Amino acid sequence: MNVATRTTPQKNLPAAWKRGWPWQEGAAGRFSPFKAVVFALLLLPALWLLWRTAENDLGPRPLTELILQTGTWGVRILLVSLFVTPLRQILRYGRLALLRRMTGVAAALYLLSHFILYMANHAFVLDKIVTEIVKSNYLIIGLVALTALLLLLATSTDAMLRRLGGRRWQMLHRLVFPAAMLGAWHYFLQVKADIFQPLLIIGFLTWLLGYRVWRKWQPQGGTLPVGAVAVLGIFAAVLVVVIEAAYFSWKIGPAVVPRVLEANLSIDMGLRPGIWVLLVAAGVTLTAGLATIRARRS
Ligand code: HEM
Repeated sequence: MNVATRTTPQKNLPAAWKRGWPWQEGAAGRFSPFKAVVFALLLLPALWLLWRTAENDLGPRPLTELILQTGTWGVRILLVSLFVTPLRQILRYGRLALLRRMTGVAAALYLLSHFILYMANHAFVLDKIVTEIVKSNYLIIGLVALTALLLLLATSTDAMLRRLGGRRWQMLHRLVFPAAMLGAWHYFLQVKADIFQPLLIIGFLTWLLGYRVWRKWQPQGGTLPVGAVAVLGIFAAVLVVVIEAAYFSWKIGPAVVPRVLEANLSIDMGLRPGIWVLLVAAGVTLTAGLATIRARRS
């Protein structure tokens, strides 16, 4: 949903932001294979869920399964939307900016369906829904996150960008970070035992947040040095391991901490989330290194 850049003039909106279908590009609205492919990918989880619904393949509690799936896909797509800008800057590939609004809007719509399905699971009986939400911290947190995302969704149009002005619009759209963090917290609180995915999300969010903060210190328009990208990856991975150890120490007892650390250093039990974060961050660092070399040569 992060559509504007820091220096966006209000009147001369880039053609890429002009209203159009998700598969169109530019003021003339020409067909964009790049956007069309990403749009199709964003639709896939929804189509897959519709197909499973039609096939009666959602298990004994279909609505619960749909709530879980839309929540999980919503968070994943939200993360993808937050990765668009760092990747554009690292790869020095401006066309990636075309995907920011599309991915952000898709994430908000998946999460809106998540909430609608939750209400459907309660037969849309409002007082039952309100009573349950106010009794449960993770639902309150989820609702605050969703409200922020819906505010961003409602202001994601060109008309709202013009009405608010680039600077105010951009400040408002920074809400996406607190919203994503609250969403991750909601996820973490609601999982019963398997904290693998919430930990992954916390790791990637840490990297993304660190990237934005670090980039603020760079001279205007500068890309983050490769060393900084590497440090961020290591920091995010270590934080995930620390949170994992702290969680199991709290759940089971401090004696389990060495075993958690051991599990992170071995592949016997599969790769732990901290290692996944490290591997993905290493890939991004390598990409940043190659892009820097290419930019220096050209
Ligand atoms: C931005 C906001 C939100 C995000 C990112 C989000 C994300 C998620 C995720 C990832 C899951 C877990 C899926 C899994 O375990 O596989 C989940 C579960 C759940 N969410 Fe949300 N959610 C949000 C808002 C809400 C809201 C507003 C409600 C309702 C008031 C809600 C109700 C639930 C419920 C009830 C579950 C658990 C279902 C179950 O275990 O039976 N969520 N959510």
